[in-house]
Amino acid sequence: MPYIYNPLYSHFQGDKLTRTELMERTTIDTILKSKVREEKRSWGKTFELKHASAVTQIGRILAQKRGLDSDLAAIMCTMHDIYVFTTGRTTDHAHKSATIAEKLLHRTKRFTEAEIKLIRGAIYNHSDKHIVSKNPYYELVKDADVLDCGLYDGVHDAYVYEKPREICKKYFKRIKDVRRELRMPKDSRWDSVEYVEQGKGYLAKGRY
Ligand SMILES: [Fe+2]
Repeated sequence: MPYIYNPLYSHFQGDKLTRTELMERTTIDTILKSKVREEKRSWGKTFELKHASAVTQIGRILAQKRGLDSDLAAIMCTMHDIYVFTTGRTTDHAHKSATIAEKLLHRTKRFTEAEIKLIRGAIYNHSDKHIVSKNPYYELVKDADVLDCGLYDGVHDAYVYEKPREICKKYFKRIKDVRRELRMPKDSRWDSVEYVEQGKGYLAKGRY
């Protein structure tokens, strides 16, 4: 098949990207170009690519439903884990991602100080999913992030494994609330902070 150029949509190619597309491509390039080897990464690059993309699209959906700016939502969602994508490490990644995102946004000269402050703040706070803030964008990134993670098999029990019980309850409430908002079917796993996936998926295969 010959290459067909469509002048009406970039497909993320070339130098005429919108600023939202530019930040999405910058994020994906960060993952693809990261030199940290797969076995040294906290997450596989496959997950990083899937998660960055999925959270961005969920962010757009939530922004439309909530009457928020869909482009700003997409940008904060796409970059929310940029430190992990750069270094392969997850420790304190919300705060460190915020610093990296701020630098990348400044460099483009396509964002106002107020926009950068808002994007930075949403990324900085995104790991505090047990806290409900008054900022709708901060809440949007937390919701999009946790909803995507909760769509994978094994993640329920992984949360139970790694998070204190009270925090876990708040995470699961957040997942249930977003699922309800999007009129998704009830998933009873999120009613329990016990291991409920044992015997299936990861645990059955001896992953943990
Ligand atoms: Fe995330």
